Amino acid sequence: MNKTILITGASTGIGAAAARDLAPGNTVLIHYNRSEQTAMSVKADVESAGGRGLLFQADLGHEEQCARLVTEICAHSDTLDVLINNAGGLIERSPLSDGPNWRLIDEVFRVNTFSAMYLTSALLPLLESGSDPNVINITSIAIRTGAPTATIYGACKAALDSFTRGAARELAPRIRVNAVAPGVIETPFHQKYSTPERVQAFIEATPLKRTGSAEQIAHAIRFLVENSFVSGETIDVNGGLFMR
Ligand SMILES: NC(=O)c1ccc[n+]([C@@H]2O[C@H](COP(=O)([O-])OP(=O)(O)OC[C@H]3O[C@@H](n4cnc5c(N)ncnc54)[C@H](OP(=O)(O)O)[C@@H]3O)[C@@H](O)[C@H]2O)c1
Repeated sequence: MNKTILITGASTGIGAAAARDLAPGNTVLIHYNRSEQTAMSVKADVESAGGRGLLFQADLGHEEQCARLVTEICAHSDTLDVLINNAGGLIERSPLSDGPNWRLIDEVFRVNTFSAMYLTSALLPLLESGSDPNVINITSIAIRTGAPTATIYGACKAALDSFTRGAARELAPRIRVNAVAPGVIETPFHQKYSTPERVQAFIEATPLKRTGSAEQIAHAIRFLVENSFVSGETIDVNGGLFMR
């Protein structure tokens, strides 16, 4: 494809799978925060698949680090074809009945939502000069079903879903903007935030009776990269756990 593709949170899970999937013939800008070693192994995989990999570190929960990331990317490239806003996480499970938690609300939105909105705006000049430029936001099934004990996380991803459609209208016809809303996907995410019992309950509630893989989400991301007539869409990939 010969594209330049920035993937945030590409050190593990879905972002790493997307980096490997999109590697052949492309330059993949691999962003990570804490997982430097795994980011380095993603870079090695990208290069052995025939791509070029470049590493960038930033904690995207902070405006100044988002700004530094943009500056570093601009120093390496004067164009960007694809921005995949994938970095994120639940931060922690916290039932609403535990009482208001301003610190958690603030952090969940900064990491998952503000960073994606910031990067989309800040990288527009580079995207403008890209080929079929497009932005892909990774949201969650939580935008459809709610997510008890992670209600704030569901709301922050719903804001990103709304941002997706708003940006798709605002940035058309030059730039496409889409989203993927994963269901329960086997990545380090659930090792951090879910007990085995909770994951088992998700599986039982899922019509296909299994979790998904990071590669299955990467496949949906690739579809959005490649199909130049799709914009403003959210693709649900969840084994039937949510149906329209
Ligand atoms: N797995 C699921 O079931 C599922 C379901 C719905 C939605 N999602 C969404 O899919 C996306 C990818 O998640 P995943 O399942 O692949 O989980 P993961 O393996 O935990 O990956 C999360 C990625 O986000 C990065 N990240 C987290 N906090 C960050 C911060 N403050 N600044 C910069 N980067 C940060 C991590 O970087 P480091 O490790 O380098 O720190 C890592 O690369 C997330 O947005 C998640 O909300 C996942």
